[in-house]
Parts: sequence; C-alpha cells; structure tokens
Amino acid sequence: MKPILLGVNVDHVATIRQARGSSYPDPVHAALQAEMAGADGITMHLREDRRHIQDSDIERYAACAQTKLNFEMAATDEMVELALRIKPEDVCIVPEKREELTTEGGLNAINAENSLTVICRKMAEQKIQVSLFIDPDKDQIDATKRIGAPVIELHTGSYAEAVTAEDKTRELNKLIDAAAYADEIGLVVNAGHGLTRYNVAPIASIPQIHELNIGHSLIADAVLEGLPAAVRNMKAIMQQARANS
Ligand code: PXP
Repeated sequence: MKPILLGVNVDHVATIRQARGSSYPDPVHAALQAEMAGADGITMHLREDRRHIQDSDIERYAACAQTKLNFEMAATDEMVELALRIKPEDVCIVPEKREELTTEGGLNAINAENSLTVICRKMAEQKIQVSLFIDPDKDQIDATKRIGAPVIELHTGSYAEAVTAEDKTRELNKLIDAAAYADEIGLVVNAGHGLTRYNVAPIASIPQIHELNIGHSLIADAVLEGLPAAVRNMKAIMQQARANS
C-alpha cells in the first residue's frame, strides 16, 4: 500500500492577519506547527492581488522549511520569476481570476500548452517539480503529459460541492478514473480543494493519489479546536493581573 501525504495550505492564516493588517497570526508559524504535527509539506498561494499570503511569507518560510514548499501560483511572468528566484521544491500552477473567492475550476492546459511547456522547462532546469491543477478530464491529463509537467493536482471542488448522493458518486468516479489514467501514463497524482474531515475519506482511498492539499477546512477546524485553550489562556492572564493589582 502506497502512503498518502498531506500538504497543509496555510493561506487562510494569512487571511485572518490581513483582515486587520496586524502582524499575527503568522502563516509561517502555522506552517512550522503543521510540520511538527505531521504535515508532509506546506502550500502557500501568492495571489496576484496579495489578498492573503505576502511575498515575505514565501521567503521567510522557504528559509526555514523542514518539509517542502509547494508554491501555488498563476502562470504569469511575475510569479515565474519569483519561483525561479525562491526555488521551492514544488510549484502548482493554477488559474486565477481577481474577482473569484477561491480557485474556481481547473487550469485549461490545452489552451495554454505552449506557454506552460516553456514554464515547465524553466522550472525543470532549476529542479522545481511542476504540477498543473486540472479538472478530472482525460484531455487535460493528456495535455499535461505533452507539456512535460510530471504532476497533476486533480480539482476536487465539484466532488466537495455535490449535494445529492448521485452527484457525489458521479464526481467521485470521475476522480477515480482520472487518477487511474494519469498514473497509467506516468504522472504523479495529487488532489485537493474543498476537502474536509467529513468528505476526505473516499478521496484518500483512491490508491494512485500521492498527496492531498488541504487548507480552508483545516484552518477552520484549528480556529474552533484551538479556541477553548485561547479563551482559558486570556482569562488566566486577566485574572492574574487583577489578583496582582
Ligand atoms: N489545491 C489547490 C491547487 C488550491 O488552489 C487550493 C485552494 O487554494 C487547495 C488545494 C486547497 O483548497 P481548500 O482551501 O478548499 O482546502
């Protein structure tokens, strides 16, 4: 049985920080904590509008990473330049629209075959492993292979958002078939988006999947699971201060 790896996406730690323009919580601190808890890698998505992760977060984490950085980025000159300078272990290329709430839908690798081939070659020269974030679609998988990216990340958003059991099964089957096909033609298969403690098991059971990248629900769970300790700590500090006054 092949082991399955967990990549923890810490973008939404930065979302909380940016909401107040404060210096906390620090996504790099969160990344190091996640590593200590067993994360196999850390994902940071530097969006064009810098809504959460900042350039300095990428640089600070790259300098102290204990596992590996998966640098998620759009296929723009700015991001390619940055990746070639920082040299993360992995780069995941995603589509990006400024107005979207999150990465909606996979990359159209077929439409961007020429430019993605050039990017993959440049990254390979620096020993950076590129994955393309695509929908579970055979034509997109074939395009990824032609482009020369060694890894795909299957977009699990449609599976995660499916409401009826019938839709869930249909979306799960697409992921099962896509993972088997990609593995057969020699691609490494990752997956992610919208995965939670409630819907992850069927995806983690797909034998060809190498790594899952999970962010939003993990940070949401951390907010709730960590809140009792944070409240106890605050109350103790207040009571101690009053007792000392
Ligand atoms: N993988 C990719 C390529 C993504 O764009 C995202 C969202 O940033 C994720 C995984 C994680 O998705 P979520 O935050 O819904 O767990």
